[in-house]
Amino acid sequence: MCGIIGYIGNRDAYSILMKGLQRLEYRGYDSAGIALINPNNELYVYKAKGKVSDLEQYVKDKDVSGTLGIAHTRWATHGEPNDVNAHPHYSQSENLALIHNGIIENYAILKAELMKHDYKFVSSTDTEVLVQFIEYLKTIHNTDLVTAVQMALSQVVGAYAIAILEKGNPDRIIAARKSSPLVVGIGNDEYFLASDATPIVEYTNQVIYLDDNEIAVIRRHEGVKIVSISNVEKSPQIQRLSLQLSELEKGGYPHFMLKEIFEQPATLRTCMSGRINLEANNVALSGIIDNKEKFLKARRIIISACGTSWHAGQVAMYLIEELCRIPVTVEYSSEFRYRKSILYKDDIVIVISQSGETADTLAAAQMAKQQGAFLYGICNVVGSSIPRLTDAGSYTHVGPEIGVASTKAFSAQITVLILMALNIAREKATISEERFLTLVKALNDIPNKMKKTLQLNDYIKDFAKIFTYARNFIYMGRGYNFPVALEGALKLKEISYIHAEGYPAAEMKHGPIALIDNEMPVVVIATNKGTYEKIASNIQEIKARKGKVIAIVTEGDQMVKSISDYCIEIPETEECLVPLVASIPLQLLAYHIAVIKGHNVDQPRNLAKSVTVE
Ligand code: G6P
Repeated sequence: MCGIIGYIGNRDAYSILMKGLQRLEYRGYDSAGIALINPNNELYVYKAKGKVSDLEQYVKDKDVSGTLGIAHTRWATHGEPNDVNAHPHYSQSENLALIHNGIIENYAILKAELMKHDYKFVSSTDTEVLVQFIEYLKTIHNTDLVTAVQMALSQVVGAYAIAILEKGNPDRIIAARKSSPLVVGIGNDEYFLASDATPIVEYTNQVIYLDDNEIAVIRRHEGVKIVSISNVEKSPQIQRLSLQLSELEKGGYPHFMLKEIFEQPATLRTCMSGRINLEANNVALSGIIDNKEKFLKARRIIISACGTSWHAGQVAMYLIEELCRIPVTVEYSSEFRYRKSILYKDDIVIVISQSGETADTLAAAQMAKQQGAFLYGICNVVGSSIPRLTDAGSYTHVGPEIGVASTKAFSAQITVLILMALNIAREKATISEERFLTLVKALNDIPNKMKKTLQLNDYIKDFAKIFTYARNFIYMGRGYNFPVALEGALKLKEISYIHAEGYPAAEMKHGPIALIDNEMPVVVIATNKGTYEKIASNIQEIKARKGKVIAIVTEGDQMVKSISDYCIEIPETEECLVPLVASIPLQLLAYHIAVIKGHNVDQPRNLAKSVTVE
């Protein structure tokens, strides 16, 4: 969480930084700030509670000149969102200004120590402690800033991506990272720094991804020098970005979330492209093929993820157990990393993460690797921290997902997991050739079924109006549709702020059914395969208690339709592929309810897209 950006070059830094902050706003949006060194070599810091647009208002009549600066958009961890806690933070002498993404875990000890040396603190943040600590070390050791940064970071416990400006030094930015992402962009005699490549792509496609414990010293006209915290110089690895600027725009949609929902037929095609070969009746995922033996020998698969990615993992459990006959457990990364988990060398750990930066999933991956498990990643952001750590993996290739509530990344994660399962199952001969071909053909046809489902948008928009009154929602499904219910409930919570819970339908009678009354909307995913008859009985139980049933059914359904209050019909497909189609009406329902309620669907309150703190 938190977005950081920096610029040094020949252009006006302010406009580049503000535009960049807007691109990074998905990472945090409770306050923002900027530090600039003006042509008179004065260091200025401006900060404001609220969005980047509030900062823009605030600086309207201020001096924002200069060709060097850093800026930050915050998702509060230490200290409430307000002007004072916003970044950048000054050191005591106001000679240094620092921005930070991450958490300094030992800040309280450092702060107490600094207070003994008469350092005063104005904010409640861990970040202010870090900048004061750097200044303190610089002063007492009478050393240069880079050395002081190295000294400070070697004593700091936690995660950080930082950037620092120094008064009187208008030609240098110092940046560093550990467990929080940082990218340096290399332009024509100008340099950029950002939490991800989205603010950089407009200016250059040459980037360097910093590794943990690396410090970048970026000097005007001289370039980028990378040194480690222990002062070992490294040669920068310049990479080429494949990101397109158009992928970062709304393309005529009112919100990124709606654009991303509608992009799904196309993103799924891209995700499958080169991986399904219908003529040759083949599925080939290079990460699986290159590590075939490992998957054939695997005693079990452990999936670790957070949020929506965890729900994709739940779908994978049904898939892999059914098709590959390998036992699967699905773990919340935050629990898995701290539990005394037992891992064996022939275990495979799959980590799923859209951003590739989620702190808990990254730590779970590190833990699995240390314990010797084979580590496979399913991520979207190319070059992010998790894919750089894993032994092998597959990208989802859906392009940037900007809406905080995940949609197209979810369907692509499931698609990659289906391709994986099909690939392994065929190698293991746990699937018949006929069934394999049926599933491959059906998967290839999913984008068409998604297109058809998206035509329900206007119907769902109208229908959403009925439910804006609701304060609670229940979502139910069984089998493959249980994770769909969980994901539907999460989407609603995230953007409409309506309390919603997902349950395996048969579990209702063990407690949640007590919540049902004539005001409770219950969304039931009751497509025509698997436990269809059983879920129809569960619906009867809800109706007997006067709950309002909204059923997602297969086109042409009669039975469930006749006992439900409202019905959304989706095209028929194979049972294990239903989540790809059934999620769409749930995404649209959450979206429209949130829009009607007047919420900011792309940047819901308290949330952030990339959760780089644990
Ligand atoms: C945040 C996002 C969710 C996402 C989760 C996991 O909570 O708001 O949309 O599912 O993080 O993120 P990841 O990038 O690891 O998939």
